[in-house]
Amino acid sequence: MGNKTILVTGGAGFIGSHTTVVLLEQGFDVVIFDNLFNSKASVIDRIERITARRPSFVQGDIRDRDALARVFESFPIDAVVHFAGLKAVGESVEKPLLYYENNIGGSLNLYEAMGAAGVKRLIFSSSATVYGESNPTPYFEDFPLSCTNPYGWTKLMNERILRDLCAADPAWSAALLRYFNPGGAHRSGLIGEDPAGIPNNLLPYAAKVAAGRLEKIHIYGDDYDTADGTGVRDYIHITDLARGHVLALDYIEGRPGAAAINLGTGKGTSVRQIIAAFEKACGKKLPAVVDPRRAGDLPQTYANADLAKKLLGFETNFGIEDICADIWRWQQFALTLDS
Ligand code: NAD
Ligand code: WQD
Repeated sequence: MGNKTILVTGGAGFIGSHTTVVLLEQGFDVVIFDNLFNSKASVIDRIERITARRPSFVQGDIRDRDALARVFESFPIDAVVHFAGLKAVGESVEKPLLYYENNIGGSLNLYEAMGAAGVKRLIFSSSATVYGESNPTPYFEDFPLSCTNPYGWTKLMNERILRDLCAADPAWSAALLRYFNPGGAHRSGLIGEDPAGIPNNLLPYAAKVAAGRLEKIHIYGDDYDTADGTGVRDYIHITDLARGHVLALDYIEGRPGAAAINLGTGKGTSVRQIIAAFEKACGKKLPAVVDPRRAGDLPQTYANADLAKKLLGFETNFGIEDICADIWRWQQFALTLDS
């Protein structure tokens, strides 16, 4: 592998920046295309500090067809890893048109620009949210799919669009990677997840409590039918997840069609287990209270991870303790960026 140029849309974001690091380390050239709606340009410098290589950066929006066309004219793109999108579930319920415009409209522009440039290899950021609320765990890729919010539908519709595109033109190949709960940060502590405002998700929330920026963790329900009563999820380290994309790029080479593949660990971890792991990582007790269940939450979700192993040779290297330790290292560095 290597010596190819990969366009990474949303490459300044959480998953995109870590995937860019792995791509650069493996010898690929990378062009990041990001409108910086949910990220900062300074991440490019930090990617360079980690890898001693600098990705090209184009500030642009996937809703801007001309900007996309210019990227394909300016760089010899071989394949695309498509992360650009909005991802806040609650916001998508309040602003569905924004989500459909950005995540569907923008993606259609991207696929059109790719087709026009003859670039027909794509890795798409899908989500375990496409398994809906009726399937038993673990989730297998061939389960029936459904969604409960506009964000989820944008993922499922993109999967459908890409399946139809691959069926219509055998020159297309795509991997539809269904992420479970990504967490952690780069081992260097230089890049990680940096949500604006009060985080919705458990891991960044716990990090802010550990850093003294928020008072206490709110456990959303301890009366689920799980081992300790709290919600169970499949937390995957961001560096493992990033590596999965590079394996998927290799896999789709010369394999027409669209393949949906789970990227998870196959193991579930409860909210209380996460809090315990975070306390170990930061060396202090984290205040926590039990609140009512959060609307829309499922008791447990985790992947069957066999297909990723079979098709991609993908296995995770890191566990929940690494995830918490790496977030904590990153959180301390992120505080120095704020000040
Ligand atoms: P992120 O917000 O950190 O990264 C997304 C990036 O896309 C940001 O840098 C943002 O500025 C950019 N972007 C958004 N709209 C854009 C547009 N119209 N044009 C150009 N750039 C745009 O999010 P992330 O966690 O890195 O997620 C990346 C992708 O993975 C998203 O598509 C998300 O839906 C998907 N995903 C994330 C998770 C998760 O829990 N983090 C889980 C499953 C799927
Ligand atoms: C994890 C567990 C909560 C916060 C979300 C999206 C999903 C996906 C990943 C993109 C649950 C509990 C949480 C808190 C808590 N993204 N919790 N206190 O909901 O599994 O997935 O992010 O595709 O679509 O919905 O992640 O981190 O919010 O919750 O007790 O302050 O932690 O109830 O059991 P979730 P999460």
